[in-house]
Amino acid sequence: MNRKPIFAANWKMNKGPSETEDFAKSLLSKIQNRTFPCDIVIAPPFVSLAKAAEVLGNVPAVALAAQNCSQFDSGAYTGEISGMMLKEFFVHYVILGHSERRAIYGETDAVINAKLRKAREYNFKPIFCIGETLEEREGGKLEQVLRTQVSEGLAGLSERDLQDTVIAYEPVWAIGTGVTATSAQAQEAHAFVRSLVAEKFGTESAAKIRIQYGGSVKPSNAAELMACPDIDGALISGASLEPQSFLDIIQNGVPG
Ligand code: 13P
Repeated sequence: MNRKPIFAANWKMNKGPSETEDFAKSLLSKIQNRTFPCDIVIAPPFVSLAKAAEVLGNVPAVALAAQNCSQFDSGAYTGEISGMMLKEFFVHYVILGHSERRAIYGETDAVINAKLRKAREYNFKPIFCIGETLEEREGGKLEQVLRTQVSEGLAGLSERDLQDTVIAYEPVWAIGTGVTATSAQAQEAHAFVRSLVAEKFGTESAAKIRIQYGGSVKPSNAAELMACPDIDGALISGASLEPQSFLDIIQNGVPG
């Protein structure tokens, strides 16, 4: 199965509008007149989306993502941003279920599922994040944790929805720590996640879905990780904050 790799920069709470403008212009100067055999996605903070859209909105090689999206359409939800609002900013993807949203903001599988379904109503492509903590892995609970996250997170989605969904496997212990999962650990988890998708949606959907790896991806380890048969790109934070480093990951991950 030929799956197009997808490399997404999750900036988390970094880069306001002016830094976003600098990054976007620099990236643009480096990628102009180039084509890539992969999808490239940038997820700035909400307040920087307008600036990112201004510089990159018409650049076919790069798509924009939001880092979150409300499960509601509008109303009394102080501090939240709806899918309708995001539509105005050339946003095509939304990151949902990131481990920081789960751990710091208490997002449950049910909330993440509601957000995923809402994101699909607005025709966004969800980047659905899953992954285990070190304690869970060491306690032998890896498969159980991934099974619950996949089963509850993707509940109620159609096969069509699934086609537009990307899964990001991000072991929590590898996020921002400099400790990357070995390619063998990552491949094993990705193959397992694909088997879970097959159980739920059938083997054809499972063969098509893109599963990104996230957690301390950098230019030096991208090639080895991306060579794994079930790894279809990366979700990167720290090493995506500089345009050249982000491009080096892409280039090393999908040469050509
Ligand atoms: P790092 O690339 O900084 O480890 O972060 C990974 C991540 O959480 C991306 O969503």
